[in-house]
Amino acid sequence: MEVQESYPVDVDSLRADFPILQRKVGGDISTPGEGDDDTVPLVYLDNAATSHTPDQVVDAIADYYREYNSNVHRGIHHLSQEASVAYEEAHDRVAEFIGASGGREEVAFTKNTTEAMNTVAYAWGLDELGPGDSVVLTEMEHHASLVTWQQIAKRTGAEARYIRIDEDGRLDMEHAKELIDDSTKMVSVVHISNTLGTVNPVSDLADMAHDVGAYIFVDGAQSVPTRPVDVEAIDADFYAFSGHKMCGPTGIGALYGKRDLLDEMQPYHYGGSMIRRVTFDDATWEDLPWKFEAGTPPIAQGVGLAAAIEYLDDIGMENVQAHEELLAEYAYDRLNEFDDIEIYGPPGDDRGGLVSFNLDGVHAHDLSSILNEQGVAIRAGDHCTQPLHDKLGAAASTRASFYIYNTKAEVDKLVDGLEVARDLFA
Ligand SMILES: Cc1ncc(COP(=O)(O)O)c(C=O)c1O
Repeated sequence: MEVQESYPVDVDSLRADFPILQRKVGGDISTPGEGDDDTVPLVYLDNAATSHTPDQVVDAIADYYREYNSNVHRGIHHLSQEASVAYEEAHDRVAEFIGASGGREEVAFTKNTTEAMNTVAYAWGLDELGPGDSVVLTEMEHHASLVTWQQIAKRTGAEARYIRIDEDGRLDMEHAKELIDDSTKMVSVVHISNTLGTVNPVSDLADMAHDVGAYIFVDGAQSVPTRPVDVEAIDADFYAFSGHKMCGPTGIGALYGKRDLLDEMQPYHYGGSMIRRVTFDDATWEDLPWKFEAGTPPIAQGVGLAAAIEYLDDIGMENVQAHEELLAEYAYDRLNEFDDIEIYGPPGDDRGGLVSFNLDGVHAHDLSSILNEQGVAIRAGDHCTQPLHDKLGAAASTRASFYIYNTKAEVDKLVDGLEVARDLFA
């Protein structure tokens, strides 16, 4: 009999909101959801890539399509007005959730974190960077940030610099002090590393950036889903995250920017909905945030993201964080029992809700396949941090990442799965 654990969140009742967690996996993949008869129960530990979507969010999206599906901004008819109100209010909901007191004008919806990063890199970076300038990143940046700024730096003649990590996978803040200097125009830093689990001192980095007159862009893809975030307390100039990692749908993310900065920036994409007046010679731009949302925006996804925020707010982000930390520490301790496992990143009691590791003699992809046969879904690869993996001396790693519905028993299944891999590869 499974021992009932006590958790910061009510795992049993939360799990009931996610029918997908009842899935069995391992059958024919050509017909998703079918062919499950002789298969194994799903243990989903790939939440840093994408979390699952509760019925409440699926229902909100279905209601939109069933009841008030229509294009926004342009219509005077009833459905368009309903859709517009819901879509616009979703921006307010996001602003409130991340502590942006300027409301919807400081929150533009994007496709995801990556597009939010590209928006600032293109709209701000191409205009503002040039030879002699530097952009300061970290060695643990996700490619969304690293590749984007690296390439914009190349195009503008600016220099991309990388703050070192230490042996524990934390930022070397002395090195940060050396790198962030008068040439620095932008500091772009991940809040929680999706590979190491490191929680970075983004507030301190914001102070360091501001002291030299630079801006800071914080990549919140792993933090907004998993802990309370207050962009104003951090003093971030820009902050970004994705809906699909926080109980929301794919196809939506958000870019927060301080109002005066967004005001000054040129648009990234041109087209309908983002203009005020167009002539054959020129065009002027819509108010914030619509200036940054060209074309038909992600309306259903916006409604879904607002519902996801409602769902997480009901649980309480402090509780979400406590649950994440509890499972991360438990997983770290369990994996740390074995000499043949190398864990990357800081100790178990000082990290976000994920653990990346390698098992001696077993490639991460092989390990992932073996775990998959037991229903355990984890991620193997470089997690979009190739330069970091080069630095760690590992071609790839295996990452288990947790969310509100995971349990210690599921971590135990992961650890049991490693035994099978050891037997096979011994
Ligand atoms: C830290 C971090 N930044 C950026 C991203 C990119 O997110 P998206 O693919 O939703 O744009 C991810 C996704 O894994 C991430 O973990």
